[in-house]
Amino acid sequence: MAQQVKAVIARAKGAPVEVTTIVVPDPGPGEAVVKIQACGVCHTDLHYREGGINDEFPFLLGHEAAGVVESVGEGVTEVEPGDFVVLNWRAVCGQCRACRRGRAQYCFNTHNAKQKMTLLDGTELSPALGIGAFAEKTLVAAGQCTKVDPAVSPAVAGLLGCGVMAGIGAAINTGGVGRGDSVAVIGCGGVGGAAVMGSRLAGASKIIAVDIDDRKLETARRLGATHTVNSRSTDPVEAIRELTGGNGADVVVEAVGRPETYKQAFYARDLAGTVVLVGVPTPEMTLELPLLDVFGRGGALKSSWYGDCLPSRDFPMLIDLHLQGRLDLGAFVTETIELDAVEQAFERMHQGDVLRSVVVL
Ligand code: APR
Ligand code: ZN
Ligand code: ZN
Repeated sequence: MAQQVKAVIARAKGAPVEVTTIVVPDPGPGEAVVKIQACGVCHTDLHYREGGINDEFPFLLGHEAAGVVESVGEGVTEVEPGDFVVLNWRAVCGQCRACRRGRAQYCFNTHNAKQKMTLLDGTELSPALGIGAFAEKTLVAAGQCTKVDPAVSPAVAGLLGCGVMAGIGAAINTGGVGRGDSVAVIGCGGVGGAAVMGSRLAGASKIIAVDIDDRKLETARRLGATHTVNSRSTDPVEAIRELTGGNGADVVVEAVGRPETYKQAFYARDLAGTVVLVGVPTPEMTLELPLLDVFGRGGALKSSWYGDCLPSRDFPMLIDLHLQGRLDLGAFVTETIELDAVEQAFERMHQGDVLRSVVVL
């Protein structure tokens, strides 16, 4: 029997989001219905609402979520009702050319539920990132459910589903930060803050946080930054070089996604260092760099989608480290809110007041 549940949707471009009733079908083959316990508010939800991703309104928003599997469809073996899971948007296919080469984190054919959730009048919803979890329940592909230790708080666990995983992964998966490395992180919101935390976890000896907002720099200190640079008042390239013996950092994570911050990252890294772009640019942005500098400085210029994570490998591991007190994922939860407060949370996010607001159901 299909169920009716409360959910937050974006009905039209730019219109405030609203709480409404949606219809969640029973899970079909390979699908699962998940009772959502918590879901973080991410920039991407706001981008959907603003029509910045595509025009397939109405959107069912929310995608940084954790909850309990309620029911599964035919042929589902990876999870069962009662499992505590974090939802992911990288349910790998196992068949594509990336998967077949053992590089499942680059899977080119990830899964979502085949059936559609709808409004009461039958209008089909587009779930954000194939998840749609500002809802009492949602329908996903079973592979989007990653089992983790249920001892963790759902509000904390859900954040691994997107931004925090992106930041930690940008440092440890894409950037390959290791013991003794110097790291600079440009932009210390939720994603950059997580890159700081990931760098500490990986044993970086120097972690330089760069932002234009002193509040974010204070937070970055709490998350593990050893040095901070306000790039509104100080040239970040000079400052990072000075703090690294005149050389630049081994790894620079760019967590803003703008040409000027990318250039800072490019010139603030040591020769043969690595730049990791995890901030998401917009379509009109372009970059100009002397090709001779690209060649002459060597090293690697990489992008990191979703922190190059493999949910089945990374989510349980990071939750375990959190439960052992070695990774304070709770530091990202600035506030917990109700389902009807998502619009206000967008506003606070826009003002830079929060790392993450998390809807708790
Ligand atoms: N230089 C340095 N820091 C900057 C600059 C700049 N020119 N412009 C903005 N920032 C800082 C902001 O002050 C803020 O602390 O970047 C941070 C961005 O953080 P959030 O707004 O919290 O965004 P976050 O969720 O961390 O995402 C960062 O990654 O996933 C993408 O779409 C997302 O592009 C965005 C980026
Ligand atoms: Zn694949
Ligand atoms: Zn997100």
